[in-house]
Amino acid sequence: MKFLDLVKTRQSVRGYLDKPVEWEKIERCLEAARLAPSASNSQPWSFIVVDDTKLKEAVAKETFSQLISFNYFSLQVPVLIILISERSGFLNRVAESIKDKQFSLIDIGIAAEHFCLQATEEGLGTCILGWFNEKGVKKLLNISPSKRVELIITVGYPESTMIRPKKRKSIDQIRSYNSYRLSK
Ligand SMILES: Cc1cc2nc3c(=O)[nH]c(=O)nc-3n(C[C@H](O)[C@H](O)[C@H](O)COP(=O)(O)O)c2cc1C
Repeated sequence: MKFLDLVKTRQSVRGYLDKPVEWEKIERCLEAARLAPSASNSQPWSFIVVDDTKLKEAVAKETFSQLISFNYFSLQVPVLIILISERSGFLNRVAESIKDKQFSLIDIGIAAEHFCLQATEEGLGTCILGWFNEKGVKKLLNISPSKRVELIITVGYPESTMIRPKKRKSIDQIRSYNSYRLSK
């Protein structure tokens, strides 16, 4: 797919077929994530693939509650990818402190999108989840309390092949040339 077409085809998928995902496809998505750029090439990430049915269900149940149920769909997903931020190198931590910027979060966001774009290329659907019970996820997957689980990506074959129109700000609302000047 041409790159812009791929970007337009990727969308958050919240309905999945009861169909397993080929292991090689997941590995190619992880390869795309592995090749993502990161500040000082620190690669401050690791990934857990959760495809064991019982464990996956338990992790999915940590992404919603009775009160906040919008991630309920994760129960029908064949694979969950857990993105953990790993400690970045000393230089990077110094740079983060001087510049007051958390580069590792930016890095993980880029890696997540690399994963999702490759998944789209593979005919898979994904949804990035930022809302979940981090403590519960860590406990289920033996992740040390000192680490952070930043994101979860749901992966599977989409129930529908329809591509929704994107709801985005117009280009005039977000771009200006040479100085900060945006139209309302
Ligand atoms: C950091 C991040 C966290 C997100 N968390 C959730 C989530 O917890 N549940 C969910 O259904 N969608 C979540 N999304 C998906 C966004 O709602 C979605 O990307 C946005 O509405 C744009 O729609 P699109 O992905 O279909 O283009 C998240 C996306 C990002 C980038």
